[in-house]
Amino acid sequence: MSELTSEEIIDLCIRHTLFDWQAQSSVRPIAVASARGAEFFTPEGKRYLDFNSQLVSVNIGHADARVAEAIAEQAKILPYASPAMATEPRALLGRKLAELMPGDLDKVFFCLGGAEANENAIRIARAVTGRPKILARYRSYHGATFATITLTGEPRRWGNEPGMPSVVHLLDPHHGIGRPVDDTETSLRYLEETIELEGPETIAAFILEPVPGANGILIPPDGYLRGVRDLCDRYGIVMIADEVMSGFGRTGEWFAVDHWEVVPDILTMAKGLASSYVPISAVGMRPSVYEHFDERVYWGGLTWNSHTLACAAALATLRVYEEDGLIEHAREMGTVMARHHRELQERHPCVGAVRNLGLFGIVELVRDPTTMEPMAPFNGSSPEMRAIGAALDERGLFTLVRWNGIMTNPPLPVTERQLAEGFEIIDAALEIGDRAVA
Ligand SMILES: Cc1ncc(COP(=O)(O)O)c(C=O)c1O
Repeated sequence: MSELTSEEIIDLCIRHTLFDWQAQSSVRPIAVASARGAEFFTPEGKRYLDFNSQLVSVNIGHADARVAEAIAEQAKILPYASPAMATEPRALLGRKLAELMPGDLDKVFFCLGGAEANENAIRIARAVTGRPKILARYRSYHGATFATITLTGEPRRWGNEPGMPSVVHLLDPHHGIGRPVDDTETSLRYLEETIELEGPETIAAFILEPVPGANGILIPPDGYLRGVRDLCDRYGIVMIADEVMSGFGRTGEWFAVDHWEVVPDILTMAKGLASSYVPISAVGMRPSVYEHFDERVYWGGLTWNSHTLACAAALATLRVYEEDGLIEHAREMGTVMARHHRELQERHPCVGAVRNLGLFGIVELVRDPTTMEPMAPFNGSSPEMRAIGAALDERGLFTLVRWNGIMTNPPLPVTERQLAEGFEIIDAALEIGDRAVA
């Protein structure tokens, strides 16, 4: 039980800690005291159904005792050892990830968060190729450190410019709700033209989220990722799949690239790895990448690389995915989610598009179903979207309402009943959107 009330917690947090991505005067956090499964609670006991797994990261659900116990056990035995040491949790987690990662990826470099993993991924790609440039897409988020916010294509980059030199952004197949998705051939022709115009011999890597998350669960057309793989091979470019959000069962496979059987050269992972119980991320590599460092120094390191507590937490988390069949469950619940999405679209004129892959989903709202004018502009909000957000909050549904989208990304153990409950709350709130369409 919290000793402080919600109000006291919020006041102190705002007074003494800086919140990210917002002007402090507009910060309105929810005070959270405890959580379990797909739910969390305020100090006063208000229950929320978590339809965004916090930051699309608590994949196994909140407060799983098996992970908590693994962390406590490890803390009693060896909470930390320098990264120059070899430890059992590091050994076992490395071996387990080698088994789970696609294709021949079988070595990892451990870091603490998604951004650090991507930082190290591009450092590795530059070292291996000896080339400077990194290609990234506009509809992407890769982190908030100096390099990764530069890689990030979406507007969160704007306030951080100028960033790191030699990053080139390009369009992906999706162009927002008002324009059709490009087909595979068109997208790949455009990518190849960009590579030729930039000079293939200057490009170290192409970093991409296989299914961009924060920018709207943008599922690529079939053949696109395979085509990216082929172009990277043709031009000697390292393909980096940023699976920080899409990894660990979120899409109904261990990794999103598995849906298309594409093997990237580097795969970065974070959030779901230890399900956010403690910070840990990893850069996965195939031999053609890491063999470069057999006789050459890897000029990178972190005090908390291969942190024993984090490795133990990740190992316990991976066991939970397997013991509880969460990857298969996410796939099954994804079918249930798709049905709810379709029903919302049939019932509400304001629902312009729905997408999901497994439990990675979004409902996009429009003001005009003919022109597909979004309910809020790109990078903006609107009174209707704010009112819908408030209605969800009032009824105890937590999720991210961003621009014209409502995210539907619950923890993987979510039940059919919980999905029905969440979508019923969204259904009721969408009447606000429907009135704007009229
Ligand atoms: C695809 C992707 N990459 C990287 C990151 C950055 O991860 P972190 O916030 O742990 O640095 C995020 C965070 O949301 C993400 O969604």
